[in-house]
Amino acid sequence: MELRLRAPLDMHLHLRDGEMLRSVAPLSARDFAGGLIMPNLVPPVTTGEMVREYRASIEEAIGEEKFRPYMTLFFQEEYSYDFLKEVREEILAIKLYPAGITTNSEGGIADLSVERLAPVLEAMSALGIPLSVHGETDGFVMDREAQFIPIYEKLALRFPDLTIIMEHITTKEAVEALFRHENLYATITLHHLSITLDDLAGGLLRPHLFCKPIAKRPEDRTALRKMAFLGHEKVMFGSDSAPHPREKKEASHCAAGVFTAPVALPALAQLFEGAGVLENLQKFVSDNARRIYGITPPDKEVLLVKEKWRVPESYGGVVPMFAGEELEWRVESAL
Ligand code: NCD
Ligand code: ZN
Repeated sequence: MELRLRAPLDMHLHLRDGEMLRSVAPLSARDFAGGLIMPNLVPPVTTGEMVREYRASIEEAIGEEKFRPYMTLFFQEEYSYDFLKEVREEILAIKLYPAGITTNSEGGIADLSVERLAPVLEAMSALGIPLSVHGETDGFVMDREAQFIPIYEKLALRFPDLTIIMEHITTKEAVEALFRHENLYATITLHHLSITLDDLAGGLLRPHLFCKPIAKRPEDRTALRKMAFLGHEKVMFGSDSAPHPREKKEASHCAAGVFTAPVALPALAQLFEGAGVLENLQKFVSDNARRIYGITPPDKEVLLVKEKWRVPESYGGVVPMFAGEELEWRVESAL
């Protein structure tokens, strides 16, 4: 049995920089035709020059592979209309992080009042730059995403022409919000489709499944699965593949992030096939993102075959999701 995917896209991807970039970027570039590259480097990507440099180092790391890095800027209150106009052609979106909420987000936004954000959001709206958001408050960890929904809704109402992406949604509340606003969309990760909090912390602690936002309840996962399995036009795949060295994960103060890039397509195929909806995977991993972002990715067809393989224990010192386990589908080739 085989599955052909046209231009699969990963619309939320952490590639890091330096040695880590060189080790992980080829894995995404092999299986995907493009990805939305997160800007939470140290220091974060905040200028046109930094975007260009980062893009160049990604291109160097992936070599000849057909893969388009869709670049992002790290949201800053100081961005002017003129600056955004200038940088418009270099980026696909701007990513907003609440200050300190996740890995490398210390330079994020502390005051999320609409008035404070309005000047930049007005400019983005006028220039047609989508806003990508890590939507969590600093409340109780299980409630952070649900508590953030009113902020999403205020923004969606105040800026009806602004495309707003609720990144890596994990709750049924977030799914419900999608239906209340035409300009709200969401990415969903492989791990949030696969696990609940029980898999992470219900037995012995599994640090490689620890990420922000944290995996939630079975009913939340059901709501996410429903949207993904339908290939619903409001949602698209964003892996949030977030590599950290093994010693940062298997540690006191374990870093947040699940590394899924090398297993994403096989594991998604397995999930979708298990639900009897393999034909909807194309929408979830490519068509919806094309429409939401208005992009035309490079021509690339990825062929998956139903053939068992064992996921390596580590890729250059980074432990992937499903390490040491068997997956039923394998990426055969990409042309
Ligand atoms: C991400 C990372 O490591 O950069 N971590 C995570 O748990 N998802 C940041 C993020 O997307 O929150
Ligand atoms: Zn992320």
